[in-house]
Parts: sequence; structure tokens; C-alpha cells
Amino acid sequence: MQRLFETKSLGNLTLANRFIFPPIKTAYGTPKGNVTDRHLTYYRQIAENGPGLLIIEPVSVTAEGKEHPKQLCIHLPESVDELKKIVNVIHAESRLACLHLNHAGAAANPKATGVSPKAPSAMTCPTTGAASEPLTEPEIGAIVDGYRSAAEKAVSAGFDAIEVQGGHGYLLSQFLNGKINQRTDRYGQNRLLFAQEVLAAVKAGALDLPCILRISGSEMSPDFGIGTEDLASLLKLAATTGIRAVHVGMGSACFSPPWYFHHASLPEKPQMDALAWVRAQTDLPLIAAGRMGRMDRAIQVIDEKLADLVALGRPLISDPDLIEKWQSGRPDEVTYCGYCLQGCLHRVKNGEPIGCNVNPEIGQPELEKSAHPLKVLVAGGGPAGMSAALYLARRGHRVTLAEKENQLGGQFNLAWQAPGKQKMRDGLDNLASCVKANAEAVLTGRAVDTDLVGDIRPDLLVWATGAHQNVPDIQGLDSQYTMTSLEYFSGAKPVSM
Ligand SMILES: Cc1cc2nc3c(=O)[nH]c(=O)nc-3n(C[C@H](O)[C@H](O)[C@H](O)COP(=O)(O)O)c2cc1C
Ligand code: SF4
Repeated sequence: MQRLFETKSLGNLTLANRFIFPPIKTAYGTPKGNVTDRHLTYYRQIAENGPGLLIIEPVSVTAEGKEHPKQLCIHLPESVDELKKIVNVIHAESRLACLHLNHAGAAANPKATGVSPKAPSAMTCPTTGAASEPLTEPEIGAIVDGYRSAAEKAVSAGFDAIEVQGGHGYLLSQFLNGKINQRTDRYGQNRLLFAQEVLAAVKAGALDLPCILRISGSEMSPDFGIGTEDLASLLKLAATTGIRAVHVGMGSACFSPPWYFHHASLPEKPQMDALAWVRAQTDLPLIAAGRMGRMDRAIQVIDEKLADLVALGRPLISDPDLIEKWQSGRPDEVTYCGYCLQGCLHRVKNGEPIGCNVNPEIGQPELEKSAHPLKVLVAGGGPAGMSAALYLARRGHRVTLAEKENQLGGQFNLAWQAPGKQKMRDGLDNLASCVKANAEAVLTGRAVDTDLVGDIRPDLLVWATGAHQNVPDIQGLDSQYTMTSLEYFSGAKPVSM
């Protein structure tokens, strides 16, 4: 286990431990693409006693390659000063900062760019639904120049490393992929050419910065995903162009988003197989990304030599203190990510700032003690009631939480019972034990009524007695034998044949 916390070298850098924070879109940026205070809070939370290297959320090398309307930019005149703010926050915590460069190509979002996306050949990305036009050679040249300029700016902003996105079905992978790149010019005859030009441009712009290449170990799409031959050629190129590590994720933004974002319900074997395949192709250090937020799994990939470094993305969003808790022998205190994607990805996709179902404090200013502690009664011990109780208790209020059932959790107790969602239980269990540790009293099997309010006489009553399931008004539904998911998982109705 100690191996996870050993220092590790990456090119000329020494990382404080074997953990990496992978690039995650936050939707914290301004519509123009600049940094906000929320970014600084978020990256400070992750960096404090955190992973050796933080790869920050992607910047697009040109305005047309953006994927999200609130994505950070690198092409603006003020970009260096803006990004430097994030670098400074990370350096203040004695951690290293890496800039992630991408151009989404066919996966670019017209709502973010204001123009139709462009790709190596005409195609439609099922995720955005947008049709792409083929890029002209001068347009390709402008994108390669964008990589060079972005690399130069990474140096000026003080970044310690650069990561180039070469996977997940984005532009570099689209050029490599024989199923997508149908060009007859030199970029089609040599599908590796774009990657060669991009890596050369990044090197020209930032000669002294170690460069990481991100790939998908498998794009998990037999019809449209990149083939192993094309991927193997990229890995060979990486080894001969001074790449310092290969960061192995999974999936494609267009063709297999659940794999890209590693939903809880997916099997683990394809990822392990993909890591083993990449390991067999290259001697470069590997970073394994995707659902590594349980200590046994992180140790397994290191022990089995499937990877040298481990990425923790969502696990550090659900608990930025995870690494410190693991290292100091307090794994039971971790608020574990359930890989549900509800508070993070779903919010970002809807244009809302990234959040987390089990950590409402992510990206929020540190809680201050109240000057006027109140006596609080929280009615309801579901996730909302527990979070409210925890928040109020941490602010110094004297909290009693009352739940009518015999256990805390509310409908969350049913959510994790769905197939493939068992990991969601860990975060729930931790939330419940944090509430018990911080509240003055937790009453189970006790509904809040006038008697209880009379006994406790709270200054503040928080009503969090649960949500009602939305059952669509479908004609004839009542006359059928149907049941809701809650009725099924709670056993309220029997399953009959
Ligand atoms: C909300 C969200 C946004 C993400 N955005 C990106 C991205 O822009 N580029 C990228 O390469 N990976 C992105 N990822 C994938 C992560 O880098 C990482 O591979 C994935 O979350 C699995 O790792 P984890 O289980 O440690 O979170 C994103 C993941 C999430 C949840
Ligand atoms: S617990 Fe769910 S919402 Fe929170 S980071 Fe993990 S996947 Fe995202």
C-alpha cells in the first residue's frame, strides 16, 4: 500500500505520490472562457495534500474546437494570466499543474463555438447530433498552429507539464481512425500525420515541459471506434517523440460516452484487458484512469504492473481528502464516489457547475463557524436531510436529525440496489456515519410531529422528508399490473407472473 504514496518521477518532474487528477470539464468558466473563483476553490480543494499532478480541465487549442460553452480558453489575449491563477493555486499546495490540450473535432459543440463542427471527413457525432464538414488543409494547419501557440502559453502560465488528448474519439483520434478518416489527401494516406504534426508543434512550443499523451485503451465501439493497429501506431509515435507517459482512459465522446465517463454499471474486465494490451505495446509509464477510487483496485493495477500511476477523478470530487485519509490509515472515513455521474456529468451537460451527489461542498468556499449557533431540527434522514444536518453541524449549529424509518438514507437505500449501482452504497454509508459523528442527536424510527417539535423547541426546523416519485400520467396505467422502481426495490408490491 505504501507504494501508492511514494514519490514518482515523470520526465524531469518529481511527483509527490503516484496519483494524478485527470482532466474533467467543470462548467465553472465564464461564457468567454475565463477562470472564476469557483475554479480556484475547486483546484485548491483537490490539490491540498492531493495527487502529485493535477491535469486541469481541457482547453481547446482553437475557438472552433470547444466542447462546452463554459470551457476555459487558451487562445484569448488574457488566457495566460487567467490560467496562471489556477497554476498558482496548485503550486501553493506544493503540487504540479498540467495543461490538457484538445480539439474536439466532430465532437465540438455548435452551442459553444457558434459554428458547425469540422472533422477529418463528413460525419455526425451521435452525442451532439451535429454533422461535421471535412477540414481543409489550411484549417488543419491553423489547428496545428493552435497547438504550438497553446504549448508556448502553457510555459508562460507556469504549467509543469502538458497533456495532449489523443483518444476518446476527439480530433487526433478521428484522424487516426480508418473508419472515420476517409480523406484521400496526405492526411488520409498517412493517418498518423496529424498526430505527428501536433506532437512536433507541442514540442516546438514547450521543449522543456514533459508531455503526456492521453488515449482510450479501447473506444468500445466496434463499428466506429479506433482499431488496435491505428492505436499501436500512435503508441510507437509516442515512444519516438519524447512522450513521458501515456494516460489510458476508455471510450469515445461520440460513440460510447458511458465508457468515457466510466459509469458504475459497466464491467471492469474490458478496462483491465485494454490496460494489459497497452502495456504490451509500450514501455512508457502508464497512468490508469477510471474507477480507481477503491484502494484495493489502485494497488492491484500497480502490483500487476498494468500501470505506474493511478488517476483519481470523481473519487477526489466526492472526497478531496481521500489520498490523505488512505495514507493516514483512515479509509473508512472516505466519502466514496458511487460512479453515478448524476451530480457531476449530468450537471455539466446541463450547463450547471460541476457538483457531486455525496459532496455538496465541492467548489464551495470553506465553511465558516456561525457567530450565532442555533438549535436545529432536521426532519428526514435521506440524502438531503443528512447533507443539511452535516452542513449545519459543521457550521457549529446544534443539530438533531429525526428519520421516521429505522435507518438513514431514504430513497438512496433503494437507488444502489439497481443492478450495477452497488458502489453507490459506499458514499451513502459514509454520509450516514459523518452525520452520526457530527450531529448532536440522530433519532431513527421517529417522525417529526408537533410533540417532537414541542420537546426540542428548535430555532430552525429543516423539512427534508423526501421527494415524490414522478409517475407519468399514462392512460390505462391504473388498470395494468405495474409498479414503480421504488415499489419494486422496497418490496411494497410483489412481482407476480
Ligand atoms: C464530468 C466529467 C467530465 C469529464 N471531462 C473530460 C474531458 O473533458 N476530457 C477527458 O479527457 N476526460 C474527461 N473526463 C473523463 C475523466 O478524465 C476520467 O477519465 C473519468 O472520469 C474516469 O476516471 P474516474 O473514475 O477517476 O473519475 C470527464 C469525466 C467526468 C465525470
Ligand atoms: S458520487 Fe456521483 S456525482 Fe459524485 S463524483 Fe461520483 S459519480 Fe459524480
